[in-house]
Amino acid sequence: ELRLPHRAAMRGRIGEIARDVTLRQTVVVPTFNERDNIPTLLRRLAEALPADGTEIVFVDDSTDDTPDVIRAEAANCPIPITVYHRTDPVGGLGGAVVEGMRLARGAWIVVMDADLQHPPEIVPQLVAAGVRDGADLVIGSRKSGGGTSDGLASGYRRLISGGSTLTTKVVFRTALLRVSDPMSGLFAVRASSLDVAGLRPLGYKILLELIIRNRPGRIVEIPYAFQPRHAGESKSTLREGLRFLKHLSLLRFGAQRGRMIGFGLIGLSGLIPNQLALWLLVSVLGVHYASAAVLANMLAVTWNFALIDSVLYRNHRHRRTLLSRFLRFFVLGNADLILRVPLLALLVDGAGAGVLTANLITLVISFAIRFLILDRVIYLV
Ligand code: GDD
Ligand code: MN
Repeated sequence: ELRLPHRAAMRGRIGEIARDVTLRQTVVVPTFNERDNIPTLLRRLAEALPADGTEIVFVDDSTDDTPDVIRAEAANCPIPITVYHRTDPVGGLGGAVVEGMRLARGAWIVVMDADLQHPPEIVPQLVAAGVRDGADLVIGSRKSGGGTSDGLASGYRRLISGGSTLTTKVVFRTALLRVSDPMSGLFAVRASSLDVAGLRPLGYKILLELIIRNRPGRIVEIPYAFQPRHAGESKSTLREGLRFLKHLSLLRFGAQRGRMIGFGLIGLSGLIPNQLALWLLVSVLGVHYASAAVLANMLAVTWNFALIDSVLYRNHRHRRTLLSRFLRFFVLGNADLILRVPLLALLVDGAGAGVLTANLITLVISFAIRFLILDRVIYLV
């Protein structure tokens, strides 16, 4: 159990969505091509939960006939069912869950997977624990007393799961101090504690998003045994793994600091053409180191621009034309030579440093200055 300042309450935003809370619980199930899991899922949910006071909301991004299967099965299910098929699946799994939270009318919103890795029988226990303990968030945990993750398909998946949980706990020490399974896809949240508008989901880790951005008041965990997948296969891919890293960086550093890290990495890669050209010009062609440093810098700046413009700022390019962005970047990127060349001379002629070492030192010094110019002057972010 964990107590943190309640962010939604601090902002006075509780209930900002005018919820017509008429039910005890809404079960939100994101689906992506899960047709063969639907009949068993619905049968077991109907056995576990009272039809009165419950609804199930499917948010579907499938490319197969899953929505049709759900609609057909809904006819035999006593619990009322809503299927929302998204044509524009923004945010992936997390985006689907948030969409389901918007549609939910229950006082409690339970999020679970469709593939029966989360046993439906645990849903009433999650809600009951939340009510009993006055919690805002109840997490189904594979890692607290009695919980297991035996259902993880392979040793490889286990390693990835353990590694990403550890990384996440290191990055968010305080917020996750007493959460054993922040990566869980099974949880119940008190609807009145949700600030849906404050969520920026990206991919699988919607629970982490919710804990970090919404700061629920009291969190409790209920152990459960993660089951093997019933039918079909996992939708998580390498791409999803990369998305998770991006999500972590956004949650931890926010957008600007995320760009700063990208800028640093690209800048770092620019050292290769810069030093290589400098070496070639000075050692092979016998050019004076000052002119060589200028030419090498021009090459590296062009290299950096190509990467920054096509990768890092690709969603922010609309404010200026390519030529305008490049010229500004090129002029500003080389402007630091005014500082770097005298510094270089000081280090080489004055202190007797090697040309490549001296070049490296001056590059590091100008790095910090250039990021701020890029962010604030060129892309106006
Ligand atoms: N709507 C929608 N859109 N649903 C999706 C998408 C998507 O892009 N991607 C996956 N889903 C649905 C799947 O259909 C399934 O119901 C659920 O989300 C989980 O997907 P899986 O592919 O089965 O994920 P997993 O088993 O690898 O990982 C799950 O369990 C882990 C441990 O609890 C996820 O819940 C992870 O977040 C969780 O860490
Ligand atoms: Mn699964």
